[in-house]
Amino acid sequence: MAEFQLPPNSRVRPGKHFPAPAGASNVRRFSIYRYDPDSSENPRLDTYEVDMDSCGPMVLDVLIKIKNEIDPTLTFRRSCREGICGSCAMNIAGGNTLACTQATADLQGDIKIYPLPHMPVVKDLVPDLTNFYAQYASIKPWLQTRTPAPPDQERLQSKEDQEKINTPSACILCACCSTSCPSYWWNSDRYLGPAALLAAYRWLVDSRDEATGERLDELEDPFRIYRCHTIMNCTNACPKDLNPAKAIAETKKMLAARSH
Ligand code: SF4
Ligand code: SF4
Ligand code: FES
Repeated sequence: MAEFQLPPNSRVRPGKHFPAPAGASNVRRFSIYRYDPDSSENPRLDTYEVDMDSCGPMVLDVLIKIKNEIDPTLTFRRSCREGICGSCAMNIAGGNTLACTQATADLQGDIKIYPLPHMPVVKDLVPDLTNFYAQYASIKPWLQTRTPAPPDQERLQSKEDQEKINTPSACILCACCSTSCPSYWWNSDRYLGPAALLAAYRWLVDSRDEATGERLDELEDPFRIYRCHTIMNCTNACPKDLNPAKAIAETKKMLAARSH
């Protein structure tokens, strides 16, 4: 898991402390960001001591245990609990990753958990992904064709062409990459960020798609793609081992090739 320094957030104050149950011998401490939009108070870090002998192995297991047994007010997103839905992405011990696939045994010492960095927070560990999804929608993530479909079969693709889209199609839109990208932190209103750009690339290299020129036109802008400075945080953060930085570099090559 990639680690990077979170920008200092001086507004976060120490919060409540929930001690371990009496007799617990295998205790770990989790400090978790809390923000309640209905309160006028600044965010705080609450600390929970969890008996790991009665808890599952993943960070998501810890969060569920805290919510069920210690503090029902803790708010976070999750659904599949197996790295497929992308909804449990958060900043754990300094790196963006999925709570459901991050084992606590792989983390040292006390563990700090924050929402994904540099996003508006809806509540506690839940970021507001409205802009992120709007950027995804803006790249038109669907097959665009001009020619009529074959009358009696699907639009076919060779095995080699299919393999080009296999990997970028595995993106689960968790936003770990975009929210680890410094360029995205400072320009998320105009820079599309690695997740949306990986999706754009997935359609650019789809042999069935017939809107390649228009797709490239849309990206040809000083901000939408060119704010990527190949810092690579995105690729290091991806919990699915995808490589958005490479996809962005390949897209820049496609843009450069047509300007010659
Ligand atoms: S390679 Fe580009 S998209 Fe990835 S973190 Fe760096 S600037 Fe952001
Ligand atoms: S590229 Fe990886 S980190 Fe980025 S949204 Fe997709 S799955 Fe998540
Ligand atoms: S709960 Fe679905 S990816 Fe973690």
